Parts: sequence; structure tokens; C-alpha cells
Amino acid sequence: MAALLQASGLQVSYGPVIAVDGLDVEVSAGSVVGLIGPNGAGKTSAIDALSGYHPASSGSIHFDGEEITRMRPHRRARRGLARTFQSVELFDDLTVEENLQVAADHLGIGRALRDLFLPIGERSREDVDWALRLCGLEDDAERMPTELSAGRRKLVGVARALAQRPRLVMMDEPAAGLDTDESAELGERLRGLPAAGVSVFLVDHDMSLVLGVCERIYVLDFGRLIAAGTPGEIRNSDAVIAAYLGGEEVGADVG
Ligand SMILES: Nc1ncnc2c1ncn2[C@@H]1O[C@H](COP(=O)(O)OP(=O)(O)O)[C@@H](O)[C@H]1O
Ligand SMILES: [Mg+2]
Repeated sequence: MAALLQASGLQVSYGPVIAVDGLDVEVSAGSVVGLIGPNGAGKTSAIDALSGYHPASSGSIHFDGEEITRMRPHRRARRGLARTFQSVELFDDLTVEENLQVAADHLGIGRALRDLFLPIGERSREDVDWALRLCGLEDDAERMPTELSAGRRKLVGVARALAQRPRLVMMDEPAAGLDTDESAELGERLRGLPAAGVSVFLVDHDMSLVLGVCERIYVLDFGRLIAAGTPGEIRNSDAVIAAYLGGEEVGADVG
């Protein structure tokens, strides 16, 4: 089966700086795939290119068999490719629910197929409720973002991407700033997404989260792939141990 998302030879540069150099990645439908690497490895640059926020300087990107390499970000989003950002920018003067509503109104894709006759507000209402439920945020729907912990705010960022009813969501460091319990809860939520029809591309440097949640993991270092494989293979990769952890045992804290 063809991959849902596929990048080949992806290169991302900022003037003379090559941030991503020849990245090949695949995310198949129904899977949770990870991308890890130390700070500055090129993870955010990769997501920016995959989502269209920064142009790829070479290589190609396909989503569901269609080439999207030069497609504008909102058109990729409409096709079902959503992303979150490293720093969650929520509208602080809107409730949690309203934050999701804004995203759903703009970009929901599934709903047009589900029911052409429902008014747009009601259609996006369903998507918002669905996203709140998936993230366990029902009880926070009426709260203001500023009333929430850092962990819950992160979840709102995830829920906002889900309210677009994407087929694939790419997440940039969703666990940054979370405590161990919050990170574990986030992991549980992410594991449940494929069953709800959403594939996940998870970028993080929280090894226990990525090793615990992803079935396949890519490792970037200085813009180049140094390893790809299952969590077990990544834990035992000499290249990863040497380059990523400077000799520490990879995922030593993972059960
Ligand atoms: N806007 C930019 N202009 C110039 N260099 C950048 C820019 N954004 C990122 N870089 C550089 O690209 C490399 C990869 O950065 P980034 O993709 O943010 O890595 P990561 O997300 O893995 O920490 C780094 O060397 C960084 O300094
Ligand atoms: Mg980053």
C-alpha cells in the first residue's frame, strides 16, 4: 500500500544553511511515526517543509499519492494534512471550544462529505466535539486557555489541529514543557488517534514518549537521517547512541 505521506530527498535551506539534507520519510495510513533528533537537527524545518510553511529547496513530497511539494499550506491542510506548532498560540480571549471552532470553520474537510445539507456551524460543531472528546477536554470546553495548565494547553493545540478532521497530523514537540504524567497522558491520546482515522507524525525529543508511542522512528542529526526503524532497533542503534545521546543508553527509562 502506498504511504499516506511520503517525502523523498527532501532538502530545506535558509540561504546558505542546509537544515535538512536529503530526508526520506514515509507515514502509512493508520500509523504513528516518530522523528527525533537533538536540538538543531532539522525537525521543525522538516515539518515546515512538509506542511508548506517553508519551501523545500529540493526533493518531493506526496500526500495520498498526489504531489504537494509546491502546494500552499492551506491547500495541504484542506487535503487533510494538519500540523501543530512548537509553541502553542491559542487565542486567550476565546474559550477552549471557540479556539477549536475557529480551526474547524476554516479547514474541516471531512464534514463536506458527511453532510452537505447541515449549516456550516453545525457541521464544524460536530468536529469540535469530536476533537474535544479525543483529547479528553470536554470538561475544559468552556474554560479560557489561561486557566489551564501547560499540559492541557498543549492538548488544546492538538485538539485544534484535530478539529480540522485531518487524515494526518504532524506534531512539533507536543511534550515540551509537560511533566511525566502529562506526557504519558498525551502518549495515550496519540496512540488512540489511528483508531479514529488520524495518522500521526510525532516530532519530539522526549525519547520515552516517542519510543513508547511510535511504531517506526526516524532519527535526524545535523539534517541527515542517521537511523530509521522500530523502537527496539532505535534503542540498539550504535549511531543513535553515539550521535544523539553521547553514549548514554537510549531509552533507559522506558519500560
Ligand atoms: N529561519 C531560519 N534561518 C536560518 N537558520 C535557521 C532558521 N530556522 C532554523 N535554522 C537552522 O536550521 C537548523 C535546524 O533547525 P530546526 O529545524 O529548528 O531544528 P530542530 O527543530 O530539530 O531543533 C539549525 O541549525 C537552525 O539554526
Ligand atoms: Mg524544533
